[in-house]
Amino acid sequence: MPISIVVLAAGQGKRMHSALPKVLQPLAGRALLAHVLERARDLNPAAIHVVYGHGGERVREAFPESDLSWVLQERQLGTGHAVAQAAPLIPDDHDVLILCGDVPLVRGATLERLLAAGRGTSLALITAVLADPSGYGRIVRSRAGVVERIVEEADASAEERAIDEVNTGLMSLPAAQLKRWLGALRNENAQGEYYLTDIISMAFAEGVDVLGIRTDGPEEALGINDKRQLADAERKFQRAAAEALMERGVTVADPHRIDIRGEVTVGKDVFLDVGVVLCGKVRLDDGVRIEANAVVTDCTLGPGTVVHPFSVLEGARTSERCEIGPFARLRPGADLAEHVKIGNYVEVKNSQIGAGTKINHLSYIGDATVGENVNVGAGTITCNYDGANKHRTTIGDDVFIGSGSMLVAPVTIGAGATIGAGSTLNKDAPAGELTIARMRQTTIEGWRRPTKKPKPAKRDTDR
Ligand code: UD1
Ligand code: CA
Repeated sequence: MPISIVVLAAGQGKRMHSALPKVLQPLAGRALLAHVLERARDLNPAAIHVVYGHGGERVREAFPESDLSWVLQERQLGTGHAVAQAAPLIPDDHDVLILCGDVPLVRGATLERLLAAGRGTSLALITAVLADPSGYGRIVRSRAGVVERIVEEADASAEERAIDEVNTGLMSLPAAQLKRWLGALRNENAQGEYYLTDIISMAFAEGVDVLGIRTDGPEEALGINDKRQLADAERKFQRAAAEALMERGVTVADPHRIDIRGEVTVGKDVFLDVGVVLCGKVRLDDGVRIEANAVVTDCTLGPGTVVHPFSVLEGARTSERCEIGPFARLRPGADLAEHVKIGNYVEVKNSQIGAGTKINHLSYIGDATVGENVNVGAGTITCNYDGANKHRTTIGDDVFIGSGSMLVAPVTIGAGATIGAGSTLNKDAPAGELTIARMRQTTIEGWRRPTKKPKPAKRDTDR
């Protein structure tokens, strides 16, 4: 049977106290809803209907992908009302899977179990046994263990509140049944909402099999309503990400102190020290070592590359055995050949740096092509921007650039050239020669420093 998925994402998330719609709150660097949609797509459904409302356009714009069907719920009258907005778009012979935009940690295998159980004539839902069930709908089972109904916390008696099995909000059932029950929902409850959860007692009353599948990993049930739960989910996600890296052989100095906000591929013997943050698509080849508090975003680091503490790398690529930092910054388009050294307080942007080249201290290299075995002295700057346009600097192999040089682009330095310290180059420097472009040093003999003039004596004006 084809699958239609409904993702509930219209809620405001009042408990977040945020201008950002709840489903756009970030978990591991991506919107909560992005995590849920990834799980949904893994199931190859016929359609994914996203019910949106609060923060409407902002939510839609965050997900421009063409495979989503957006269903507007103008007023948030409850989860049952939300599903009812999508129901007319679902053919009667589909299996329906209902996901919540604020339950992002659910595993694919759990959803597959749920779908299998909700086929045919049954209704299936995922439940979880939680040490602290507060805030969730509670699962009321008969003596025989059959799910009879769900009671929301706001409507629950003290006895019902003591139940520790909760509704995760994930449900699967045949479309035709769903539509019939949705039509019968009432909003006579503590919150004045149309609760999706009320269809459980309808199903039970009709003698339909209601299958409450208990998850064995209650963390996947985490519904995120406030910043505390968001932080909690973040830690759970990060712990799992660290474990996954360790399973692939990465040495993690402290699995509680790294953050993965994207997709990381790793070779053998990678080491990640504390405080490392990896974002976007990151590839770390064999023997890469990233030291404390470095942030690496969308980079490929070649075998044996070492990133020293407090370095920030984005959109960069290194070959074998490069050494970066401490306190270095590689920006998009920094492309380092093997054995390149980038030292402290050096910024490199949109530049190819040849093998064996060293830029060790306090430099800015932007829009440059730098050859092999070049030594760039401390404080060298490519003046690449004239206020309107960017220009390139080209530096040949084996060049030696003295400290404190300003290279006013466009400019080319020929292979083997030496540039005297403190030069400001605004013309090309020929290969193999020493070029110095600074004022000659002069000494003014007999020059005296000014001395302070004696102050006039203070007059007594008070009397
Ligand atoms: C809901 C369930 C509760 C369950 C919990 C699990 C109901 C009535 N209650 O409670 O049993 O334990 O989830 O996390 O279903 N939404 C809409 N439109 C609306 C209202 C909500 O799209 O009018 C969306 C929200 O954006 C959210 C989801 O539905 O993604 C759940 O809504 P929320 O208000 O968070 O329900 P809970 O009180 O958490
Ligand atoms: Ca919720």
